[in-house]
Order: sequence, then C-alpha cells, then structure tokens
Amino acid sequence: MTTGPATQIDTLLAETRLFDPPAEFAAAAHISSLDEYRKLYDRSINDRDAFWSEVASELTWFKQWDGVFQRDGHRFRWFDGGATNLSFNCVDRHLSSGTRNKAALIWEGEDGEQRVLRYHDLYREVCRFANGLKSLGVGAGDRVGIYMPLVPELAIAMLACARIGAVHSVVFGGFSAEAVRDRMVDAQARVVVTADGGLRRGGVVALKANVDSAVEAADCVEKVVVFKRLGNEVAWDDSRDIWWHDLVADQPLDCPPADVAAEDPLFILYTSGTTGKPKGVLHTTGGYMVGCYLSTKLIFDLKDQDTFWCTADIGWVTGHSYVVYGPLLNGATSVMFEGALNWPEPDRIWAVAERYAVSILYTAPTAIRSFIRSGNQWPEKHDLGSLRLLGTVGEPINPEAWIWYHEVIGGGRCPIVDTWWQTETGSIMISPLPGATPTKPGSATLPFFGCEPDVVDSDGSSVAPGAGGFLVMKNPPPSMARTLYGDEERYQLEYWSRYQEQGWYFAGDGARRDEDGYYWVLGRVDDVINVSGHRLGTMEVESALVSHPTVAEAAVVGRPDDLKGTAIVAFVTLKAGQQPGDEAAATLREQVVKEIGALARPDEIRFADALPKTRSGKIMRRLLRDIAQGSTTTGDTTTLEDLSVLATLRGDEEE
Ligand code: WTA
Repeated sequence: MTTGPATQIDTLLAETRLFDPPAEFAAAAHISSLDEYRKLYDRSINDRDAFWSEVASELTWFKQWDGVFQRDGHRFRWFDGGATNLSFNCVDRHLSSGTRNKAALIWEGEDGEQRVLRYHDLYREVCRFANGLKSLGVGAGDRVGIYMPLVPELAIAMLACARIGAVHSVVFGGFSAEAVRDRMVDAQARVVVTADGGLRRGGVVALKANVDSAVEAADCVEKVVVFKRLGNEVAWDDSRDIWWHDLVADQPLDCPPADVAAEDPLFILYTSGTTGKPKGVLHTTGGYMVGCYLSTKLIFDLKDQDTFWCTADIGWVTGHSYVVYGPLLNGATSVMFEGALNWPEPDRIWAVAERYAVSILYTAPTAIRSFIRSGNQWPEKHDLGSLRLLGTVGEPINPEAWIWYHEVIGGGRCPIVDTWWQTETGSIMISPLPGATPTKPGSATLPFFGCEPDVVDSDGSSVAPGAGGFLVMKNPPPSMARTLYGDEERYQLEYWSRYQEQGWYFAGDGARRDEDGYYWVLGRVDDVINVSGHRLGTMEVESALVSHPTVAEAAVVGRPDDLKGTAIVAFVTLKAGQQPGDEAAATLREQVVKEIGALARPDEIRFADALPKTRSGKIMRRLLRDIAQGSTTTGDTTTLEDLSVLATLRGDEEE
C-alpha cells in the first residue's frame, strides 16, 4: 500500500490506488488500524448483544433494556423495554461537564448574521419550546410538522419534540405547498412549525405562505407556530397562528424529559420511492440514538476540540443525523449554515469553513463537482488549514472529484470518508474509518460495525468479486427504520419481500465488491433517481406532470449528468389539440415545481406522439433511458418525437 501523489488526475486508474490513513492521523484516532477495525467488527457481528450494550451504556437511559435485539421476520426491536430521552442525551447529559459552556451550534445566516448557542443555551431554548408545545396540547406520540429555514430554531423544535415524546416530521424548505400538504395529511400533524420566511440566494422563500395554502387542505393541523426570521409581512389567522416568541415568552426554563420507550417513534421523514406517493420512513428512539452516536464518533473520529460541519439541509436525513443528533449526542460543536454554499460567491463554503476553523467537513459529491467547475481560485483564497477530515454522502463520488477534494481542499493530508447510507438506515452503514481504512477513490470501502451487507444476484447468491449485483443488508442494525408510517405493507414489500426467504433488507442500490471486500455503490436499480444527491422517484415527477390538464401521459427517466449526477428527462404526450413547444415545456416545468418543488424541475422535456409500450401496455423505460442518454441535443428538445416507431423496431424485449 502506498500513498500516491495525486497529480496525474486524468490518467490515473483510481480503482487501483490506495490512500493509507496518514500515520499521524491514525495514531490519534479512535480506531487506529485495520486490525483493530476488523476485531471490533467481528465482535459487533458475532457478539452483537454485548457490543451494542456497551455502546448504548455510554449514553443515559432512565430504564435499562430487557433485551438488546429481537427479530421476527422483518419486524425487529432494539433495546426493548429500555427507556431514554434523545433530547436529554443531546443536551442535558452535557450540562454537568465543561461541555455546558461549549458551543453546541454555530449558526451563520445567508445574510451573514451569526449566532452561537452554548449547550446550556440550547437546553433553555429546547425546554422553553417543549413547554410551548405542551401548552398547545401536543403530547407523546403526536406528530409535529416542521417546515423551516436552516436556523437554530429548527434543531430546537426537533429536540423539543423528542423531549416530550412527540414525533417530528421535517419537510425540506424547498418543497412546495402541495408537497407540504401531502406530508402533513399523511402524518396527521396537529401542529406545524414554520418561519415567516427563509433566505435563498438573496431571495425570500415564502414558507409561511406555503404553509397557509398547505393547511387549507389539511384539517388535522390545529396550530401553526411561526418563527420570526426576517420580519417580512405575512398573512395571519389569529385562531390558528402563533408567533414562536409569544409561545415561549412565559414558559418555564425547565421541562423534564419524558420517559420515552426505546421503540417509541422519534421521527417520520418522507422520502421518494418507486410509486408517486412519498413514503414516511419511521425511526424509533433507542436504536436510532445509538447508531447516530457511534457512527458520528467513529466515522468522523470526533474529538472534543473538533468543529464539525455537515453542509446538508436538515430537511434530509443527513441533516437529521449529522447536523443535529449525531454531533450533539457526542457533545460536539456543529456548524449550521442557512444559505447556498456558492452564494453570493462560489467561495462561500470555504469562507464559512475558514471563519469557524472547521475541522471536519461533510458534503455531497454534487457540491464538490460544482466547486471544481468554479475553479481552484476560490478555495485558494482561504486558509483551510483547520480541516483534518473530509466526508461525502448522497451519491457515488467519481474518482476525479475525490482526488480534487483530497488535494485541493484537504491539502493531501485529510482522509476522506465516503459514507453510504439511506434515509431508511438512519445512520452510516458502509464507510472507511479514517484512522484505519485505506481508501480507494470512489469506494465507500467496508461495513460499519453491526452492518452485514452483501452483493447478491436475484436468487440471493453472493456474486463474485468485481461483479455487479444488488446491495442487501443481512440484519437490521439499531438505527434501521422500523416501518413506513401508516403503510406497513409497503414497507414489507419495498424492502423485505425481494429476499424474504433469507430475511434480508433490499436497499434498492446496485453495487460491486472487489477482491479486498470493498464496496462500490453503483446507484439505484429501481425507479428512483439521484439528482444532486437528492432522491426523487420518477413516478412522483410523472404524477406531477399528468396532473396538468394538457398532459395525456408522461414518463420520466434519469440521464447521467456531469454536475447533478442525474438529470431529469421527461417524455410527455399531450392531449389532442394541445401544442407542444417551448411554451408548453415551460408550463410543465412550472407544474412540477408547484407540485413538488424546484428540486424536481425537469432538465429536459421531450414531446412524443405516443410513448413506446410493450404489448402488455408497460412503458418501455429502458428504451427511453437509452434515448435520453443518446441524445445529441443539449438543453430542451421540444419537438415532437415518434417513439412508437422505435418501439416497434425494438420489439417487446423490455421488462
Ligand atoms: C445514494 C442519503 C453512493 C444511494 C444519506 C442510496 C450513495 C441513496 C452514497 C439514499 C454513497 C448515498 N455512495 N451512493 N456514499 N450515499 N447514496 O435516502 O443510492 O437521501 O440508496 O439518504 O443515496 O439517499 P437518501
């Protein structure tokens, strides 16, 4: 094994390169050799209960669990009989040490405003808001919707819910009113927490207005709590709306943490699946807490003096686990940044990293590719010497981007952890340990403790080294989702039915494993696409398109894209008498933005007389993918295509 110079970026065959953890890093790391990793890993699998008992015991429990792990088919329980409180473990647990006065959250608004909340400040704010929620009648098990900009109050609202045993469901601030409504109705949220607005690239995001229109059709919502972020004008309904500052004004500064059973629900987070309806992934308390705690500590090699910055929005699972819960469980300092990483200039991310002397930076390959495109002059303007560890998540990272991140941002001295996981797994499942695992650019490397992945064929046989197959998990680790909210059947069907006999979790990803046992995740094998590191169901976009009165039929596929990972291409058949063209394309793009949000806006809309179908009437998606990829056009193609001819030529081979 050698640590190679990272010059010849273009010619390098990344797969054959190994980057050893730097000796100095390894010496000081929590896990400092591959040997140590392997021993502990073996223990986490073969002596599972003892391993996880020890980890869980590093946290505070109000009542000891009866059993560590029980499983019956796809139903499983961790730390059953135990009682704890996640908010207590994130906040109160640190008040009796010097951590009490340490920064818990360092926040920077897009407009440059700064706030620091020490652990004790966070305690007060969480307690006051928890009491506020209680005064609205919110109790254990009630669902609270959260639709906010990336401000400390978002984390405070989550921790306040956890404190009283309520279940939060955070909706990303970039989603539309329609998307908020669907999620609130599905979760039957009683309260929605929002803000008068948020900032995005200098513009105001009308969060409150979106909530107003969402709750019009969501009878379940009794109260809307509004945090004053900008002081802009908002519509007001006295019987329903209440300002955050009024709600907490007279609340006691203490709120005793509720006794929460290990298997009580903690949060619902909606994510895309293979149907048009997003699924409400449900996580419970004890196992999620333990998984977040350990993965943050070991994968990010977290130390007391670190400043940790995960750039994800809290509207995604990455923000839940690695902006809020994981760092706080470890008593770390977590940086929260409200805005776009490249606004107002492409170096905003590096300016923020430099300003707070960030030591651990965790971001997405899409972001890295856009920084590469903007040019090295932007990071070069900043002193990034405080960085000691880099991470990526959300999609496969191409080796060139990995090398650039390593060299230009990490100065060649920072290990990179390429972390594979999902909304459903709650915390990281496959990743290097930075002081132990030699890394290969583009590989998420080896399983984390307690995780038993495999790459198998459709019968469930392990495929040979280097061959492609389906990624499965043979046993559910503690932080794995327990169900889909209100839809146990879909949960069983989507994740546990494909390898039901074996009892394995099907992740929906394709992967290969090399001779060293390293995992290379290739991407989704279902109708889910990964756009800029965000999961989108092609069916969701199709439903949005066909909800427009001019559309007869739509099929959406992904096309590889240098920057976004995947671009969205929509094939649309219009109803008789409707005119295809740029105007129609623009209207349909807006329709998708209205139904889902800007993140789902199709990159290309192609009109067709008819969509190619098999004899049994199934749309031939593989053919459409080929067409989308083979496209020689750039940008819009709004002319009419005759795909039925192609379909006839290809016959009925599809699906
Ligand atoms: C993809 C994000 C390759 C994968 C935490 C997965 C990755 C989906 C990686 C989950 C990675 C995530 N390498 N692909 N390191 N990390 N993915 O639910 O397809 O938003 O199934 O969770 O992202 O996306 P989700």
